[in-house]
Amino acid sequence: MKKRLLAIVLCLMMLSTMLAGCSKDAQTSGKGGKKIGVAMPTKDLQRWNQDGENMKKELEEAGYKVDLQYANNEIAQQVSQIENMITGGCDALVIASIDGGSLGTVLEEAKKAKIPVIAYDRLIMGTDAVSYYATFDNYMVGTIQGQYIVDQLDLENAAGPFNIELFTGSPDDNNARYFFGGAMDILNPYIDSGKLNVVSGQKAFEEVATLNWSTEEAQKRMENLLTAYYADGTKLDVVLSSNDSCAIGITNALVNGGYTSENFPILTGQDCDITSVKNILAGTQSMSIFKDTRTLAAQVVKMVNSIMKGEEVPINDTETYDNGTGIVPTYLCEPVFADVDNYKELLIDSGYYTEDQLK
Ligand code: BGC
Repeated sequence: MKKRLLAIVLCLMMLSTMLAGCSKDAQTSGKGGKKIGVAMPTKDLQRWNQDGENMKKELEEAGYKVDLQYANNEIAQQVSQIENMITGGCDALVIASIDGGSLGTVLEEAKKAKIPVIAYDRLIMGTDAVSYYATFDNYMVGTIQGQYIVDQLDLENAAGPFNIELFTGSPDDNNARYFFGGAMDILNPYIDSGKLNVVSGQKAFEEVATLNWSTEEAQKRMENLLTAYYADGTKLDVVLSSNDSCAIGITNALVNGGYTSENFPILTGQDCDITSVKNILAGTQSMSIFKDTRTLAAQVVKMVNSIMKGEEVPINDTETYDNGTGIVPTYLCEPVFADVDNYKELLIDSGYYTEDQLK
């Protein structure tokens, strides 16, 4: 008995020495108290809260101080937050922009102060102050959504025609064109052959874009489409939505318009926001793209570390993302889709959500 007690005490002592060592490593791993500014667009959407928290946690674990700011989707607020980060002496900036085209002037200051800038998830346009870009493969997000629709309707074999409406995201977000472009590259051949029928005729990016990715705007547009084109009983079979915040508005409109889980149109999304995953389980959304924010945060921390140490920065794409001043070296993470068949493995077994959060 005494021996066992002694063994336990010894184990605990070893463990505490190890833990002390770890945290000391984290504090002094050569970062010398360097400070990283992290600018996020808004707290309104679940994903950005997760992105921000993950970035802060990962950077602090790596020994950095972190100045994390959310900008309420207000461009001027984000600009002033970045200004403060620059004057406050940040050593690097990680920015998920609200409007990718509005940061040129403030980032000139970063460039003068030799502060490297990583564009997080959304590319920052029209300035050569951006050093790197890290994101999920945005074009692939769209192709996965398009292919999901093709597979669910068995468009290769089915005669159709199936009625479809299209929704994408904010025109000031460079990602939106990649999402929409990827999806349409898959869907256009079926639209051209008549198997898919865009009943409203609204197919151009500008016609189907949703300012600020707003749930309310998407809901309004879906309601208008139902009134204008489907009031005579025409059945809507599919809605392409580039993300979850739009899909949630579309679901609201469809449910108000009388669709139930029994006859619900196929509806795509992106982000695996909790509301959308619940809708997937209830049969009022079909799928969402899973972009594990932990993966992106970890990748960006690797980039920050390499930049700070003057080492080669991990990138895997030097062709796709031209921000108007040239190609920005990029690291692309791979997105996957989640639906009712695989959500458990992807979202729960991986520890992203608990079962309770989805109830
Ligand atoms: C992100 C999406 C997100 C959307 C709205 C895009 O830039 O890539 O994940 O759904 O913004 O916040």
